Amino acid sequence: MYSKIKEKKEWWKEAIVYQIYPRSFKDSNGDGIGDIKGIISKLDYLEKLGITVIWLNPIFSSPNDDMGYDVSDYKNIMPEMGTMEDFEELLKGLHARGIKLIVDLVLNHTSDEHEWFKQSRSSRNNVYRNYYHWWPAENGVPPKRFSLFHEEGAWTYDALTNSYYLHYFSRKQPDLNWDNATVRKEMYSMMRFWLDKGVNGFRLDAFTFISKDTNFPIISEKYESDFINYYASGPLLHNYIQEMNLEVFSKYDIMTVGEASGIAPEQALLFTAAERKELQTLYHFDHANWGRDKNNLYYPDATNRKLSDLKKVFTKWNDVFKTDGWGTTYFTTHDQSRMVSRFGNDTVYRKESSKLLFTFLLSMRGIPYIYQGDEIGMNNIRFDNIEDYRDIHTINYYKHLAATGQNTEAFINAQKEVSRENSRTPIQWNNSLNAGFTNGTPWLKINPNYNEINVALAEENPDSILHYVRKMIALRKATPTLVYGDYELLAEEDEKIFAFTRSFDNEKIVTVLNFSDEKNEFIFPFNINNVTELINNYNTTSTLSNNRLCLQPWQAVILKLN
Ligand code: GLC
Ligand code: CA
Repeated sequence: MYSKIKEKKEWWKEAIVYQIYPRSFKDSNGDGIGDIKGIISKLDYLEKLGITVIWLNPIFSSPNDDMGYDVSDYKNIMPEMGTMEDFEELLKGLHARGIKLIVDLVLNHTSDEHEWFKQSRSSRNNVYRNYYHWWPAENGVPPKRFSLFHEEGAWTYDALTNSYYLHYFSRKQPDLNWDNATVRKEMYSMMRFWLDKGVNGFRLDAFTFISKDTNFPIISEKYESDFINYYASGPLLHNYIQEMNLEVFSKYDIMTVGEASGIAPEQALLFTAAERKELQTLYHFDHANWGRDKNNLYYPDATNRKLSDLKKVFTKWNDVFKTDGWGTTYFTTHDQSRMVSRFGNDTVYRKESSKLLFTFLLSMRGIPYIYQGDEIGMNNIRFDNIEDYRDIHTINYYKHLAATGQNTEAFINAQKEVSRENSRTPIQWNNSLNAGFTNGTPWLKINPNYNEINVALAEENPDSILHYVRKMIALRKATPTLVYGDYELLAEEDEKIFAFTRSFDNEKIVTVLNFSDEKNEFIFPFNINNVTELINNYNTTSTLSNNRLCLQPWQAVILKLN
């Protein structure tokens, strides 16, 4: 067992990823928008954190209809972010500190301002026409397709050529036609361009959408809720990813992670098993809807926050990767609200519960992803007004509700908990003007709690979340069991305590987490006597007697069984 796993050791399996949403990380020139130079100014901070890989959200030329996910030139940097020289300097600075960089690949769509689309829409005979999906209006109205950003649907009429074009996301994000071999070649050459610059891998944005049934059959509206399975994950998806691997990934020593919306655990190995030669890892969304209203995911419902459900999700996904492929562990990204607001308690126990969540993240099997700002316990901003939002997702749905006379107030209340804007507010560096993020007017409001929650204060306080995260990262790095060890869930029905073991090469480690505002007791299902406490988010040592561990609210403890 040991040697088998040892053979499969890979740098990327040991990665500790930190996600940077550059717009909100650090502004260097006072225009209110975070940029590459801003990141460069914080390289020492990143190094000290101990993370080993950065996932950088899109920095490519873009009119920012969807904050960089609408790319108008894949081989250039958007001026707001800086220049290609800045990018190269960033990469050099990261590499000099032993940190790798993976960039975002927006595969399914471009911006409507991309040269390909400008050409494509100009005439039906243009050589780029086939780069996108067009439906001639003389064939009637195209079969309904759901759009993630427009209630009106995913086909937009373009009078210039009397045709409709397809966009699963915004109207300014037309879907590329991956069935066109020239499009695929262009995309592979773009990927090689970045790898040849030295980037260490990719996060594949919305990749399940690239293959779709381009006969566009009529699909019953009842499938809208399961739209990814009916509108995406098309017949050629695996062919395209295998081709991408053959043409690009296999030629470099890189890390790949796919945004696996709509992929069930049963399908995961089809993408990640080593012999499939597709991707190394992907990340699922099965815990993203924890605490959401099951009928309408735009609304929260705290009664759906059952700890046993969360355990089931993580355990099920761990089991997928027991012997092949490799998993991913995360709580939030730029597409979901703040970690501590959703999974912890962001008022009374903000500090304790943040530390607990990091204890989980960094002792669980699968590559941990830390989202910027979580390391200081930033929480949801909870905007009251639609004017405060910049996210097309929230704005368009609000407009739709207003236009159809529905309840916008209830929607805004719900957005306070679920909106992606909550995770996108600028990093709170210190308690000077604008939290030290910018000298100008920030592009998105800064959380007014920056006087109490900021990096400078966290640095000064040895008991801060930040210091704990550094300790927890160091522990993971020093403990191969936490990376490679088997995972086993304990007490699966317990609604307060999440406990599991990690075992590897005769070493057994147990993580015990009290996910509640009350004290709780955990009874081990096996005999434990002699233990070493590896980490504890409270300053008092945990008390263990007769196989029982007493835990304070949101207490997290990792013990090594001797
Ligand atoms: C992914 C991105 C998200 C974006 C969408 C469209 O889900 O993470 O931010 O809106 O793709 O590209
Ligand atoms: Ca700037």
